[in-house]
Amino acid sequence: MQTEVKVAGTADGQAANPLREGLATNRITDPCTIVFFGAAGDLTKRMLMPAMWNLRLEDILPTNYGIVGFSRTPYSNDEFRAQMKASIDQFSRSGPAKDPLWSDFARHATYVNGDFTDRGAFKKLRAQLDANDKQLGTAHNRLYYLSTPPSIFATIIQQLSDAGLGPKDQAEGWSRVVIEKPFGTDLDSARALQAEVSKVFDERQTYRIDHYLGKEPVQDIMALRFANMIFEPIWNRRYVDCILITAAETVGVERRGGYYDHAGALRDMIQNHVINLFALVAMEPPISPSADHIRDEKFKVLSAVRPIKAEEVAKMTARGQYGAGIIDAKQVPSYRQEPDVDPNSSTETYAAAKFLIDNWRWADVPFYLRSGKRLARKYSEIAVTFRQIPLRIFGELGDRIESNTLVMKIQPEEGVSLRFNAKVPGPKMHIRAVTMDFNYGTGFGVTTAPAYERLIGDAMRGDATLFTRWDAVERAWELVMPALECWTSTRDDDFPNYAAGTQGPANADTLLTSDGREWRKI
Ligand code: BG6
Repeated sequence: MQTEVKVAGTADGQAANPLREGLATNRITDPCTIVFFGAAGDLTKRMLMPAMWNLRLEDILPTNYGIVGFSRTPYSNDEFRAQMKASIDQFSRSGPAKDPLWSDFARHATYVNGDFTDRGAFKKLRAQLDANDKQLGTAHNRLYYLSTPPSIFATIIQQLSDAGLGPKDQAEGWSRVVIEKPFGTDLDSARALQAEVSKVFDERQTYRIDHYLGKEPVQDIMALRFANMIFEPIWNRRYVDCILITAAETVGVERRGGYYDHAGALRDMIQNHVINLFALVAMEPPISPSADHIRDEKFKVLSAVRPIKAEEVAKMTARGQYGAGIIDAKQVPSYRQEPDVDPNSSTETYAAAKFLIDNWRWADVPFYLRSGKRLARKYSEIAVTFRQIPLRIFGELGDRIESNTLVMKIQPEEGVSLRFNAKVPGPKMHIRAVTMDFNYGTGFGVTTAPAYERLIGDAMRGDATLFTRWDAVERAWELVMPALECWTSTRDDDFPNYAAGTQGPANADTLLTSDGREWRKI
């Protein structure tokens, strides 16, 4: 079904690189209309519209496509198009949208204004979709992208069904739904949402987005593990001492205090992004690259993760909240002073947890996960720390023989580095740790496309590999629930317990030092 198109230029206008020679890119062949619910929202402006534009620039969008914005903001078609242009001009990696391509792109976009509870608005949507099929040749294929507040997801899905826009109502074409995170706010609400979704869309038609899975270096975790011979034989308890997974940010809650104060770091980052990284690094080799074979392995390994018992929460997890501090040489306020945050809030802006996996590969190897806002640096990585050498025969007195560490760097740097020991040149046998570094940008000569470009393209193509299947979402909730229940029912009187711009709270250090280990410096 897919047309092979030779790689020419890229949206960044970058020159060809020999490492990419002979590669083909895939234009999506199925015609389709994509409907953005929450079209006036921040995510649409910053990420989704620039992503659609770059998919067009890169010739990935199908020849017949339509874009429909749906939200409560009363735009006309032209006002919506002007909004789209402003978003692209401000946020697109390829710079401002230019004619003649822009005018052609804008011609494919229309807007439906209405309340999500209003049946009439969904009738208008239906009329617009029918018009697209006739005028743009979109062949009854529909991708519904829900980027509204999560409390409205179930309503939209029900309305689609009532308006005859669900997949079961279709004589021709397909319908799929893309659902932004968070999928539920705890295990019960996630199950309730899933019950609503599954009345209308079956699992093959449901794309639960976790934008971390669209990041190139995250996809490369599988390539590193399963397209090389040298790593997999040592990827187990015999050689690995521990694995550290970090997603650190310097931003605070920005304008999202209202949402974040009811979420916290455990729900916002650990339950989804960080646990997805955990699954990818720990899973067994899938038997094929198909979406279900990969997702089977992710679910299998998450099923083997030992749940933290309620009475172990204090020992196995750490939580923190930032106080005022300095980021990039500027004074920033404490979390409790952020807009729309309760001045007495007990919500965590930092969460860490230690997990063990009860299977043959990983028995007794700790996985330490952490994520926080207003930390010293924005950086996400997975560090695999290997065991100590069994016997020291080299090295002068005082030389420290470090453990080998393999680091998968996710952002801002994207690459892989391996730390190993080497002899310092000279007559003595001094040993020092050195680093071998690979960087995707310089290696392949491209700036990687933002995650949303990849994920929207995949959903239009019907490739669910990089979307989270319900079983894994449910399991991830099960894993965080003991800490969530404890943290929501008990205040931490030490909050705020780390200053903005630092390494995070001291109790997170204890999580590792009590095992004789340390976090890597943020
Ligand atoms: C989102 C969270 O899912 O991920 C945000 O809701 C967080 O709170 C963001 O800032 C981090 O994404 P990235 O791609 O900047 O690491």
